[in-house]
Amino acid sequence: MAAFQLLFPLLVSCVAANARPPRQLPACQVVQMDVFCSNLSLRSAPVNLPRGVQMLDLSRNQVQNLTQETLAFHTDFHHLNLHSNKIHYIQPGLFKDMTDLKVLDLSRNHLNVFAHSKINIGPLTAVESLDLSGNGLYTGMSDYFLADSPSLANLSLRSNSITKIAQNTFSGSMFLKKISLHNNVILEIEDGAFDSLNHLTELDLSKNSITCITDFNLCNLKVLNLSKNSLEFFQSTGSTDLYGLQFLDLSENKMHYFPLLPKNNVLRHLDVSRNQLQSLNVTGSLDRRTTMILYYLRYLDMSYNQLQTIPESFFNCMGSLEVLNVSNNCINSFSITNPELLKTVKTINLSYNSLQSLTFGKNTLPSLEELFLQGNDLTILDHQIFQRLPSIKHLHLQENDLEICDASQNHKNPPECVSFSSIPNLQFLYLSENSLQTLPSNAFVNTPLKLLDLSLNPGLDMHKDSLSGLESSLAHLILRENNISSLNIDLSSLRSLKHIDLSTNQLTTLPMWNQESSIESLNLQNNNLVTLEPSTMLALEHSLKTLYMGSNPLSCCSNLGFLHMIQNSALVIPDIETVTCILEDYSEPVNIEKVTEEMCQRPSIQNYVIPVVLIVLLVLIVLGLLIKCCQSRKRKPSRSFSA
Ligand SMILES: *[C@@H]1O[C@H](CO)[C@@H](O)[C@H](O)[C@H]1NC(C)=O
Ligand SMILES: *[C@@H]1O[C@H](CO)[C@@H](O)[C@H](O)[C@H]1NC(C)=O
Ligand SMILES: *[C@@H]1O[C@H](CO)[C@@H](O)[C@H](O)[C@H]1NC(C)=O
Ligand SMILES: *[C@@H]1O[C@H](CO)[C@@H](O)[C@H](O)[C@H]1NC(C)=O
Ligand SMILES: *[C@@H]1O[C@H](CO)[C@@H](O)[C@H](O)[C@H]1NC(C)=O
Ligand SMILES: *[C@@H]1O[C@H](CO)[C@@H](O)[C@H](O)[C@H]1NC(C)=O
Ligand SMILES: *[C@@H]1O[C@H](CO)[C@@H](O)[C@H](O)[C@H]1NC(C)=O
Ligand SMILES: *[C@@H]1O[C@H](CO)[C@@H](O)[C@H](O)[C@H]1NC(C)=O
Repeated sequence: MAAFQLLFPLLVSCVAANARPPRQLPACQVVQMDVFCSNLSLRSAPVNLPRGVQMLDLSRNQVQNLTQETLAFHTDFHHLNLHSNKIHYIQPGLFKDMTDLKVLDLSRNHLNVFAHSKINIGPLTAVESLDLSGNGLYTGMSDYFLADSPSLANLSLRSNSITKIAQNTFSGSMFLKKISLHNNVILEIEDGAFDSLNHLTELDLSKNSITCITDFNLCNLKVLNLSKNSLEFFQSTGSTDLYGLQFLDLSENKMHYFPLLPKNNVLRHLDVSRNQLQSLNVTGSLDRRTTMILYYLRYLDMSYNQLQTIPESFFNCMGSLEVLNVSNNCINSFSITNPELLKTVKTINLSYNSLQSLTFGKNTLPSLEELFLQGNDLTILDHQIFQRLPSIKHLHLQENDLEICDASQNHKNPPECVSFSSIPNLQFLYLSENSLQTLPSNAFVNTPLKLLDLSLNPGLDMHKDSLSGLESSLAHLILRENNISSLNIDLSSLRSLKHIDLSTNQLTTLPMWNQESSIESLNLQNNNLVTLEPSTMLALEHSLKTLYMGSNPLSCCSNLGFLHMIQNSALVIPDIETVTCILEDYSEPVNIEKVTEEMCQRPSIQNYVIPVVLIVLLVLIVLGLLIKCCQSRKRKPSRSFSA
């Protein structure tokens, strides 16, 4: 059975092959001098390729032997794509006469089989870009392809099985600019393996098994990727030569110490995230606290380590830093008091640490726009701490334990509160999950908030004037999961409000809105709404675009206006599947889309009157007849007796 299943497609493909008229390009596409024959089950190039073809795409076919014949004896190629074939043999010297061939893609083939035969493919005279990725090549096998490749600039050896880079690995390709060795099993790099490559600017060694780099000395390199190795340390030589390194990725390694970087450097981007840094002590340096001189550094990622403190002095020589990520460490105190430090920083990510103390001096961090502090233990902060950050725009304070001050009574405030009023550029404020008890009046006056997230503070008591001052700025308000049973703030005064999330509360009535409302999306999921005030729904109708209304005990027949809105307006109700209502007491909820107005037309009193009157009349007539009948019967016998 299995054999038959295999045979059948083979037979079909043979028949198909025979039926094809000869001397015709089999479904290849020809665009000027470029021929595309990808994924056509071909074993070789079509015999009648146009003369002078420059680009041939034979990827995803069945080529096994790569010879002059397979390429139809053409030699004018500029670009040959043989990706994903089954090539296990290359005719030696095949590329010698292809003096225009610049790009050769041999990725995803079986070139390890060819390398076993220990034959050289011969000169790659003009090839500038060579892709040998995914060929099962072991250490030393690349030699048979690279021995004579004088023009090679770009080489990919990704996803092979190379364990060692020998000193002479690249000696036949001295003009290499870019090498990728991503996803091999490199354990060892022999001294000097890259030293003679004076043009090398990008080296990707990510996803290997390198354990240490000592005496890093590649001065011309601009990008070095050592992510996902087992590096315990990275150490440069003590040389004072200028190093050109700009991007250094050391993420996902096992470093305990900060890397020893070249003294004279132009490093812009340094990633040491997901290591085991416990301090900022520098590896291998005699005085382990040597300050790093990183004048050009813009991006520093030290997230997912075990840092407990970052001394202010660490930033002494980082005059250009823009992004600092130290999230997911164990930092319990962070302080910047020197106004000369971190003047250019725009983003600081301190989320998910154990911060209890946070201090900013006057006029520090003048460029800071985004500060991420979620997931810490912040309880007591200086009242005016955020007013000291002149450019702050986004403030993420979720999952802390803060209290908010009342701007109108500065002296009567509890000592542990934080003020959010008069922060001139703050637009996005996240305060969810802070166990907030109260939101005092005037909490945000003179702060131009656009978004305010107060969700997940169950029991939050909002003063009726708590949002005053936000009338013309606030566009997005999130009050999800606050256990609110009635809102005592007047949302209709927030003239710019467009999005409001009131889901998972205990609301029994809708907040009031009038015709001036500009609400575009409203989330009322999971509340206790039975009847939706028709005048409010009417007021919302002209601006509302999206409404969430699932999981409410709605009554079907007292919300006919809403029913009409669902059926007749362009309103989108993404959770319509879960919007149910109750037709009669004690009956099962029905999906609101299935309800029709007729279902709600109960027989009215008028309808009862006529039958009742008719019945009464009928009874009266019958009674009358009966009485008459009885009377005449009484008379009849009396008459007969008298006879
Ligand atoms: C290759 O062709 C087959 C059928 O002709 C098709 O099912 C498959 O999706 C194609 N593969 C690619 C990568 O285009
Ligand atoms: C490929 O070449 C080898 C050696 O020249 C030869 O033995 C083999 O038959 C060829 N295979 C195909 C499919 O042409
Ligand atoms: C280098 O080769 C890789 C893989 O073939 C390719 O993705 C990349 O675009 C090439 N880069 C340059 C600069 O030629
Ligand atoms: C380094 O390599 C990793 C894994 O391939 C990749 O995710 C990362 O973006 C690279 N880093 C740089 C700076 O290119
Ligand atoms: C860092 O260096 C200081 C001073 O040399 C030393 O006291 C401290 O123990 C070091 N910390 C770690 C984690 O090695
Ligand atoms: C660190 O934070 C920066 C900026 O906030 C971000 O771009 C980067 O992806 C973060 N790093 C990790 C490992 O998530
Ligand atoms: C902060 O850093 C964490 C990881 O360290 C990352 O997941 C998060 O996206 C960063 N925040 C921002 C806004 O970049
Ligand atoms: C929610 O409010 C009700 C009273 O309205 C109260 O009984 C309940 O405990 C509150 N739940 C929470 C989680 O605060």
